[in-house]
Amino acid sequence: MTYKIAVLAGDGIGPEIVAQARKVTDAIVQKFGHDFEYTEALVGAVAIDKVGNPYPDETHELCMNSDAVLFGAIGHPRFDNDPTAKVRPEQGLLAMRKKLGLYANLRPVTTFKSLIHKSPLKTELVDGADFMCIRELTGGIYFGRPQGRSEDGQTAYDTCVYSADEIERIVRLGFEYAGKRRKKLTIVDKANVLATSRLWREVSQRIEPEFPEIEVEYMFVDNAAMQLITWPKRFDVMVTENMFGDILTDEASVISGSMGMLPSASVGVHTSVFEPIHGSYPQAAGKNIANPCATVLSAAMMFEYAFALMKEGALIREAVDKSLEAGIVTEDIADGKKAYSTSEVGDWLANYIKNA
Ligand SMILES: NC(=O)c1ccc[n+]([C@@H]2O[C@H](COP(=O)([O-])OP(=O)(O)OC[C@H]3O[C@@H](n4cnc5c(N)ncnc54)[C@H](O)[C@@H]3O)[C@@H](O)[C@H]2O)c1
Repeated sequence: MTYKIAVLAGDGIGPEIVAQARKVTDAIVQKFGHDFEYTEALVGAVAIDKVGNPYPDETHELCMNSDAVLFGAIGHPRFDNDPTAKVRPEQGLLAMRKKLGLYANLRPVTTFKSLIHKSPLKTELVDGADFMCIRELTGGIYFGRPQGRSEDGQTAYDTCVYSADEIERIVRLGFEYAGKRRKKLTIVDKANVLATSRLWREVSQRIEPEFPEIEVEYMFVDNAAMQLITWPKRFDVMVTENMFGDILTDEASVISGSMGMLPSASVGVHTSVFEPIHGSYPQAAGKNIANPCATVLSAAMMFEYAFALMKEGALIREAVDKSLEAGIVTEDIADGKKAYSTSEVGDWLANYIKNA
């Protein structure tokens, strides 16, 4: 069988990190005798520059006709520093999520033995932390309308909108994942203040009796932000709305040791997208210093989630673990020791897989 992969490298460090994920994927494909067909397409600032649209129709067409999308990152300081820009790279990401119906972003948060000392949290707090954060991805304040400015430009507004159906499908996913793991689900909201959160709670409580084996807890987002760094081991599966999930998972990245280590999968109605949780890290673009592991581990999730090729995914994880143990790491986790370049880490991982 030929697996069709759409490759959307995007901006900043995107092309460099995606190139390493491809090396690793190629090594796996060769070792296990699969057939992969990659097709590259534009997204983000580079797409605005070339065709004036951050998520061109051709890119969407390709994604729809692929078995999986491997995604780098989007974003450029030129747009970040110009609040008046009418077309922005982030619109490309949001359009892709909406058009592909990617309503759930799965973000596993785990620790790596050799990186535990990198966490700003005490070792005994993070050692053994292992949970899945499920972030709603196509609703909430990022998509709600109206959004904009008053005529005099002195007032701005965003609208947070959720329908019961949107809430139900993601909360169900939360229950299902909890059922496959340690059977504990934390539903994070702000039901003491927000009407959308109260609907989240209402819908969740309606579904709860269908999953009697799951222990459910409801937690306000401010408390969750605190619990994440005071007692991260209490979590198994966490499900939350779009903006809360965005913020909490960046916070959770300190548990793993670096933003450069956290992968994700965005799943929903059409083709799934596998992407690191970090952005385009423009300060590192073109310098060959960014950590490619989040993207490489996203490729591992692609094998497991999109193709149910578990051994292939496991070998990629093993390669990453071994590279950390061997100190073949980029500067963000080198800890004053020798730092390897992005491409050297990619080469090492691909070689490990070839020789495994
Ligand atoms: N999914 C996406 O494509 C996505 C997500 C977040 C931000 N962005 C965009 O990225 C641009 C930069 O945003 P930002 O600086 O807030 O976030 P960022 O994730 O790009 O970088 C924040 C910090 O995290 C660290 N970091 C991130 N990726 C790393 C890697 N691979 N290796 C080592 N360290 C890494 C760096 O210290 C960096 O300064 C903006 O334009 C923003 O809109 C895109």
